[in-house]
Amino acid sequence: MSASRRITIFDTTLRDGEQSPGASMNIKEKIEVAQALVKLGVDVIEAGFPIASPGDFEAVREIARSAEGSVICGLARCNEQDIDRAWEALQEARHARIHVFLATSAIHREFKLRMDKKETIARAVAGVERAAGYCRDVEFSPEDAARTEVDFLCEVVEAAIAAGATTVNIPDTVGYATPAHMASVIRTLRARVPNIDRAVISIHCHDDLGLAVANSLAAVEAGAGQIECTINGIGERAGNCSLEEVVMAMRVRHDVYHVDSGIHSERLVPTSRLVASVTGIQVQRNKAIVDRNAFAHEAGIHQDGFLKERTTYEIMRPEDVGFAKTDLVMGKHSGRAALADRVRTLGYQLNTEQLQTVFDRLKELADKKKEIYDSDLAVLIEQQIRDVPKLWEFLGYEINAASNQKPRVTVRVRRGDEALSHPVSQGDGPIDAMFLALEQVTGTSVVVKDFQVHSVSMGKDAQGEVTVEVEYQGQLYRGRGVSTDTVEASGIAFLDALNRVGTLANLPKPPLAPSATV
Ligand code: KIV
Ligand code: ZN
Repeated sequence: MSASRRITIFDTTLRDGEQSPGASMNIKEKIEVAQALVKLGVDVIEAGFPIASPGDFEAVREIARSAEGSVICGLARCNEQDIDRAWEALQEARHARIHVFLATSAIHREFKLRMDKKETIARAVAGVERAAGYCRDVEFSPEDAARTEVDFLCEVVEAAIAAGATTVNIPDTVGYATPAHMASVIRTLRARVPNIDRAVISIHCHDDLGLAVANSLAAVEAGAGQIECTINGIGERAGNCSLEEVVMAMRVRHDVYHVDSGIHSERLVPTSRLVASVTGIQVQRNKAIVDRNAFAHEAGIHQDGFLKERTTYEIMRPEDVGFAKTDLVMGKHSGRAALADRVRTLGYQLNTEQLQTVFDRLKELADKKKEIYDSDLAVLIEQQIRDVPKLWEFLGYEINAASNQKPRVTVRVRRGDEALSHPVSQGDGPIDAMFLALEQVTGTSVVVKDFQVHSVSMGKDAQGEVTVEVEYQGQLYRGRGVSTDTVEASGIAFLDALNRVGTLANLPKPPLAPSATV
């Protein structure tokens, strides 16, 4: 086996990832994700963009204070206020990095910045110098680098390194590059920038053409030493380079790339599930590396070959990326110790109170469902981790519905100590009527943008998982609900989204709608 070059993994799930529509996380959720990223072995965590909002600032500051083991990074534009604010948030980190960026492509210079090349370089240098005055670890990104004239890119990169940048990141901001193009940009920088050996070259690819992972790997082959990526590939528009895919490609095809990372790959699946759970953005069934289908063999010929010799159809083992070896877990008679053990095996960490709640829910579920699988358990655990302050709690519903008839729905909810019931007799079917009743009782009117139902595990008694995406004042919010009763799961998911609207948009408590107190 040939020697490995160690690639730095820079995770931007909490910054670029959070820019996915509807992916907003609250501070507690961000801290939870940051802790999972540390355990995963991520080298650098981009925790947010401190100037963007007070919430972003607080999240970066809390992560900087509490996360140990990874470099904590904050993003800033090349201006004094941004950089000062970033440092204010980062200063308590054991190891902090300030990441400054400025667009360099002709399109951005002309239409966005209205700056010529000289002014652009001067601004980049001033930004890097100010950041370097605060900390030794400074990253500079020429935004839209992949569409920047390569001669100018070399000039900017040289100036940024001379000013103190220790990492120079090359973003394909709009996902326009191809692998050959990306490799050639990196090779050109290495050949032409005289001080390039004083900085790490990083790569940051977006997935608009579905090439983010391929472009990142091509950059690494050409000499890049850092990859910027996100869990599940979430991010602006089509997303960013997916951490789990790029890491496993480097590991499984070590013979090609001769590089590796410090990622503990058996933590990939739990981290992916956690991010899906807190953002509400589920991965597709056939998602490489982290979804079960990635290891399911359906065709008879494949199954036959696999049973004779696993490697005929499998290039990595499910347990290498964090799938448990057996799937059937618990039943009615499983004890607390068995549950605690399974929770640990699945890669989660719960406090005593959370464990007790999961145990109680597990017993309730076991009354409705004979066999409980890992995926059922993961959902119960994630409900504890996903931290949406419950302004409103779903208690139940009654429905009277038939084809070609107006449905009649009564929902029962709780706000604080008050239990309310609210009837509605309109809407296109029972789910629509239930949503309407919940909007009325909470006094929150939203537009439903997406509604999805999945089964969590196998069999007719499987739990249904509903994800609802709603729009409120131009912002997207997601809710999730799980139950063996899909209608109930829909109500829970919708109320979960309304709770997010209430907490993330900081709505005052709505006056109670005229409903009966129960
Ligand atoms: O895509 C991009 O250009 C970015 C920069 C801020 C690095 O996210
Ligand atoms: Zn980006």
